[in-house]
Amino acid sequence: MTLRTITVDLGDRSYPIFIGENLLTNPEYFLPYLAASQVLVVTNETIDPLYSKQLRQALAGVAKLDWVVLPDGEQFKTLETLNQIFDSLLTGKHNRKTTLVALGGGVIGDMTGFAAAAYQRGVNFIQVPTTLLSQVDSSVGGKTGVNHALGKNMIGAFYQPRSVIIDTQVLATLPDRELSAGLAEVIKYGLIADIQFLEWLELNLERLLARDSDALAYAIEVSCKTKAWVVSQDEHESGIRAILNLGHTFGHAIESSQGYGVWVHGEAVGAGMVMAADLSNRLGWIDHQFYRRVVNLIKAAGLPIAPPKNMTPEVFLSYMSVDKKVLDGSLRLVLLREPGKAVVTEDFPAELLQQTLMAF
Ligand code: NAD
Ligand code: GLY
Repeated sequence: MTLRTITVDLGDRSYPIFIGENLLTNPEYFLPYLAASQVLVVTNETIDPLYSKQLRQALAGVAKLDWVVLPDGEQFKTLETLNQIFDSLLTGKHNRKTTLVALGGGVIGDMTGFAAAAYQRGVNFIQVPTTLLSQVDSSVGGKTGVNHALGKNMIGAFYQPRSVIIDTQVLATLPDRELSAGLAEVIKYGLIADIQFLEWLELNLERLLARDSDALAYAIEVSCKTKAWVVSQDEHESGIRAILNLGHTFGHAIESSQGYGVWVHGEAVGAGMVMAADLSNRLGWIDHQFYRRVVNLIKAAGLPIAPPKNMTPEVFLSYMSVDKKVLDGSLRLVLLREPGKAVVTEDFPAELLQQTLMAF
């Protein structure tokens, strides 16, 4: 497989995304992106036995190399766990020239990025995403942070990595459930910005589910290109970047209300995108036939197409009211203005939202 390289264009903070096979063991993708010969790798108990040995090969030439292994799970994406990273940095006497390397999925990537943003007011960091979801979404764009009991990702910072190294071979060990979760974000890119990619996904979903390496690399590349383009337009989400949150307002309500980790992020986004498509259909922006295509694709990807039965409209609205897109008390949602085009809007009648919530 050939190496694919994409640049996130942010002026003097621009950085490369490398996509290929066997990158994890290769020093040439790591050493040029270190600030000095000092590294703390952050990973978790599941990934450590699978991939730390390979990464040690790439980092063998680093003079000061430390490792911290965190517990696995969304429920550990907290300030308390974050402190374990700071403890390791301080006990290991890491200075301002250290580099944090996030080896893991979105939970490890988001926490490591936030630790890098805060440690000594900001140190270098590299993303090595190991889930499909983190390869197509969370490792790119610099959103970092942790959860609070009252809301997901409520404490964090925008802080960009120095590079993103995507080794597609690590997907071989990913549980099926997590592969489907990643496909939710892949489908999102088709829905919000790229109708041709959506059509490609409809035709190639079986290959992706069978982990065909060429199909996966292509889907990761297209997804990262869209994400890189959106982030380079609007790094801090004052406008267009919010379209990347299609389905997320409904999805975050599901995740938060069920307890972190019960529904995985991608599953909640899958059901959330169906709800956003339902409301878009009620507004007359997409027709029923396109709505059915959305439902069928999400279902075929192995994702839920409805929220849990215990979620009443009141429960949804209480969680949705603390969404980061709420401005001056108005709820803003990402909806489909047409097939393959999303908008962020507060321009929808409350009774139509109520109808969507009742329908599920
Ligand atoms: P995750 O990090 O919890 O990983 C899912 C599971 O897969 C974990 O148990 C993990 O240990 C395991 N795993 C990871 N790689 C593996 C591999 N190669 N083989 C076997 N098992 C592996 O979940 P995720 O879906 O990667 O990320 C979800 C998180 O990302 C959420 O916290 C979400 O809020 C965040 N997120 C952030 C952004 C962003 O822009 N920063 C975007 C989307 C999602
Ligand atoms: N995952 C949404 C964003 O990065 O903006």
